[in-house]
Amino acid sequence: MSRLLVTNALPYANGPLHLGHLLGAIQSDIWVRAQRMNGYEVSYLCADDAHGTAIMLAAEKAGLTPEAFIEEIRQSHEQDFAAFGVNFDQYHSTHSNENRKLATLIYTRLRAGNYVAHRCIRQLFDPEKQMFLPDRYIKGRCPKCGAPDQYGDNCEVCGATYTPTDLIDPRSTVSGVAPVMRDSEHYFFELSQFESLLREWLAGRLRHDGRPVAHRSIVVKLREWLDGGLKDWDISRDAPYFGFPIPDAPGKFFYVWLDAPVGYLASFKALCDRTGLIFEHFLNADSQAEMHHFLGKDIINFHGLFWPAMLHGAGMRMPTALHVNGHLTVNGAKMSKSRGTFICARTYMDAGLPAEFLRYYFATMLSDEPVDMDLNLQTFQELVNSHLVGKWVNIASRTAGFTQKYFHGRLADHFEQQEATLWQQWLALYENIGTLYAGDHFAEVIRRFVTISDQVNVYITTKAPWVIAKDVSRRDELQQVCTLALHGFRLLSALLKPVLPSTVAAAEVFLDAPISSFGDARCTLFGHTIKTFVPLLSRLDPKRLDAMVAASTQVETAQVTTTMPSAGKKNMNETAHKITPDASASHASGTIRIDDFAKLDLRVGKVLACQFVEGSEKLLRFELDAGELGTRQIFSGIRMAYSEPEKLVGHHVVFVANLAPRKMRFGLSEGMILSAGSNDTDLFLLEVDQDARPGAPVR
Ligand code: 2FM
Ligand code: ZN
Repeated sequence: MSRLLVTNALPYANGPLHLGHLLGAIQSDIWVRAQRMNGYEVSYLCADDAHGTAIMLAAEKAGLTPEAFIEEIRQSHEQDFAAFGVNFDQYHSTHSNENRKLATLIYTRLRAGNYVAHRCIRQLFDPEKQMFLPDRYIKGRCPKCGAPDQYGDNCEVCGATYTPTDLIDPRSTVSGVAPVMRDSEHYFFELSQFESLLREWLAGRLRHDGRPVAHRSIVVKLREWLDGGLKDWDISRDAPYFGFPIPDAPGKFFYVWLDAPVGYLASFKALCDRTGLIFEHFLNADSQAEMHHFLGKDIINFHGLFWPAMLHGAGMRMPTALHVNGHLTVNGAKMSKSRGTFICARTYMDAGLPAEFLRYYFATMLSDEPVDMDLNLQTFQELVNSHLVGKWVNIASRTAGFTQKYFHGRLADHFEQQEATLWQQWLALYENIGTLYAGDHFAEVIRRFVTISDQVNVYITTKAPWVIAKDVSRRDELQQVCTLALHGFRLLSALLKPVLPSTVAAAEVFLDAPISSFGDARCTLFGHTIKTFVPLLSRLDPKRLDAMVAASTQVETAQVTTTMPSAGKKNMNETAHKITPDASASHASGTIRIDDFAKLDLRVGKVLACQFVEGSEKLLRFELDAGELGTRQIFSGIRMAYSEPEKLVGHHVVFVANLAPRKMRFGLSEGMILSAGSNDTDLFLLEVDQDARPGAPVR
């Protein structure tokens, strides 16, 4: 029997897990559990992705060492995954000795194989911070339309794309100073040397079973990149950088994406050291073990091009398959803090929602196709109540009581003709459940579940055991009905086991019959005695969903993002990420931590204009010079306290720069100006010495 290594994409160690992270992790966990029921021995691995500029700067901002910063987050990730039943055999960190050794080993072998080149590149450098700047950390005016405050790669106003050196008046968002051009020696992995190998691999020709390595849409996309020509991949970064040093290259570090996938192997190595598995048996080029990666569609280039090439170049086995998922939307739109749909794993749990309900909902929609999934909260509620409580648990609750009362829990010794026929019918529907799971066809598994459970319920309703029970002469008939229904319940429990592991464990206790493989539930339990039934699940109360949304909305007001609010994933870890450790915990105690405070981006703004707002008795409209952040329009409710707003022009005030912009009747408010006082007339602007530079951070 083949052994499997299964990995889940590593979350960055820079903030709490949200439902988007859980989508991929739940998918991989279900798959692993199903493969174990199919008889495979599986090592299931994950870790925190702990390196890179973003994490280094976030730690600095939080006033922590990167090591302390990432460790706290790693622990929270491990706990949150466990709360959702995602049971990794090893949850490690890319900032570990195992990873340092393996990344160094792989790099050294690639260098020995002449796959690594080095050459000088010119890049923008922050002279104050003494660091090279990834594109995301440079802002300036768009060279095309002149819009202020645009990132170094594209303009969000006119859509133009360019390089950071094209920006007018570029500024480092780290220090605020103008960057300068500097030369630096960089190391490159020559991916083009692997083109034909990657084509073979993508065609499935390196798999012993010849099956595709990924869904065809992914294979097509990867082929497009191959056809377009593979460029060398820049794998080095200059100090200061939080990562591993490159051997024989002082001041150079591995780019975070070089050691991130190696983190899969590091996690496995830690598992081997703990359990006695032999690492090389899985990683040697001729290994018969399979290696499956679960990941989101935005990182297929790393997993489908760089990573297989790195492994092969270092003399190791290549991945067996990539299982790719799409993105998660909530209520039909991108997760949004203002709508309360940017939902953290912890917030879901704290609202008292059962983790397995979410696992079930995801399973109803997952297939092998990497399409986006919507979590519609109304549908979620209806689905789990109808399917799990109304269909599945209901079968047991309608028949277990009679079985106990009239037969002391004993099932019949055989099936009569009609029951035997129905049982065969259900077994036929259950036939290839294990194969469906193995092929990522979870939604099809759930369709089978619904079909079988509907048939079982129709059978119960038609037989009406509550009527039969009234007639002492029909006891055998009653026992037949309960016996068949409970066999159906067991079949469905086995089918659901990868999705609802702990609820099905309770069902196994009730049935007093363990389920360890899909085949187990095909065997009849004639003459077997079951235990007393206890309700396995209760209906989802919509109030809990409301509480979750409300708590997520509160998190928005309590949490603010770092200075780069529109950071997306496109530049991978060079993005600025939302640094949002569990705010609810600290709020509950009425205190905040230093890293909560560090999330506020307070800046000095010079008042360029200040006017009354027509139609508002409370507001003044400010226009601030915010230095490298450009100009900001802010509406502030201090009109009653300042009757001559024009006198404020030229003053230096303090404002919150990273508050989400708010659309008001009068226009967009892009921050909040701080003032002291507690009522409308008794308010005083917080002023700063005239020498303070507009845009300077307030610490
Ligand atoms: O995109 C991400 O969130 C990365 N942290 C995923 C890394 S997966 C693996 F390659 F390490
Ligand atoms: Zn523009």
